[in-house]
Amino acid sequence: MTPVYRQPYPVPGVIWASLPIPALLVGLDGRVAEVNPAGEIFLNLSSRALMGQPVLDRLVIDAPMEEAFSRARKNQSPIFINDVDVTTGERAPVQCNLQIAPMNDNADFLMVLISPRDIADRLGRSMSVKSAAKSAIGMAEMLAHEIKNPLAGISGAAQLLSMGLNAEDRELTDLIVEETRRIVKLLEQVEQFGNVRPPERRAVNIHDALDRARKSAMVGFAAHMQIIEDYDPSLPPTYADPDQLMQVFLNLIKNAAEACKTTGTTIRLRTFYDLSLRLRRKLGKPSVLPLNVEIIDDGPGIAPEIAADIFEPFVSGRENGTGLGLALVSKIISDHEGWIQVDSVPGRTVFRVSLPVAPKSMEAD
Ligand SMILES: Nc1ncnc2c1ncn2[C@@H]1O[C@H](COP(=O)(O)OP(=O)(O)OP(=O)(O)O)[C@@H](O)[C@H]1O
Ligand SMILES: [Mg+2]
Repeated sequence: MTPVYRQPYPVPGVIWASLPIPALLVGLDGRVAEVNPAGEIFLNLSSRALMGQPVLDRLVIDAPMEEAFSRARKNQSPIFINDVDVTTGERAPVQCNLQIAPMNDNADFLMVLISPRDIADRLGRSMSVKSAAKSAIGMAEMLAHEIKNPLAGISGAAQLLSMGLNAEDRELTDLIVEETRRIVKLLEQVEQFGNVRPPERRAVNIHDALDRARKSAMVGFAAHMQIIEDYDPSLPPTYADPDQLMQVFLNLIKNAAEACKTTGTTIRLRTFYDLSLRLRRKLGKPSVLPLNVEIIDDGPGIAPEIAADIFEPFVSGRENGTGLGLALVSKIISDHEGWIQVDSVPGRTVFRVSLPVAPKSMEAD
């Protein structure tokens, strides 16, 4: 006898409701026949408001959708449309991949799955940055270690040599000593980067960390800037290592201040609560990152030729930059299961850090 396979989920509705990406059923008349909860969130409308509405009135899709619908029905096979802009009318377009598939039992109905590329790509990129950073840093650390020893020898020999030299020649040995010192300092920074310890996380008030960073910036590299605080004081605590969190803000404020050397005068620190950023990671539970911190400057913006790579280690647009600042920020944020994104045009650069809320049990800390 053939064994009977018992389906663990006999209720199709459960599968539909659990689909983590926006999904719609569209009838022959082009109207919404069903929408799943992720679809309701994406469209910012309840299923009651959506049902029976012409789908292309609710979703503005930058692709010949009617043609795609009729082809999927005619060929009885799915259609994939990648990299299209999708808007709901109320918000900025989101780049998405679409899948349109005729229903097995009734090809008049089409299932439309919408995968916002935005989050998928950014998530992928942050993770690849993390692993790229790891291997690049591993190698740099090894090199740093190997180079520091002979450098100490070179510098020592130059100092010995300088003793028997006249003033003019001593300038040259001084140059050797000074330059080796500069390289050693750089190598130490690289070594330090590799040594970032795992975060010791606890409930932390974001504004305390921001404040520490702001004060330290104001007495140093950001003394020429005006720093405006635009805080939502009701934000609950995040779950972070306070020192590492402060380091993140400090690095971002430092970059903003350095970018504003030529043009720009103001850095705005903004905090707000926004539930819309949910990350579904490949492994583990989906996470909500409602605590947002923006570091906004009115400087010249990120140079387009490096914009795609600024989170990679050793990418710098500054003469004396090591290019480790943002790689470190990215590593720390990633260790905190947070998210960082950037939006930059001349006159307005926004780095946004999104963080989780501390678990309820931690809040008393
Ligand atoms: N707010 C900003 N405005 C304009 N460009 C920026 C801004 N923040 C970062 N950048 C660009 O991104 C580059 C990389 O930044 P990152 O902090 O990683 O390195 P760095 O500042 O050059 O060196 P380091 O931080 O290691 O001293 C910068 O050199 C700069 O060109
Ligand atoms: Mg920097």
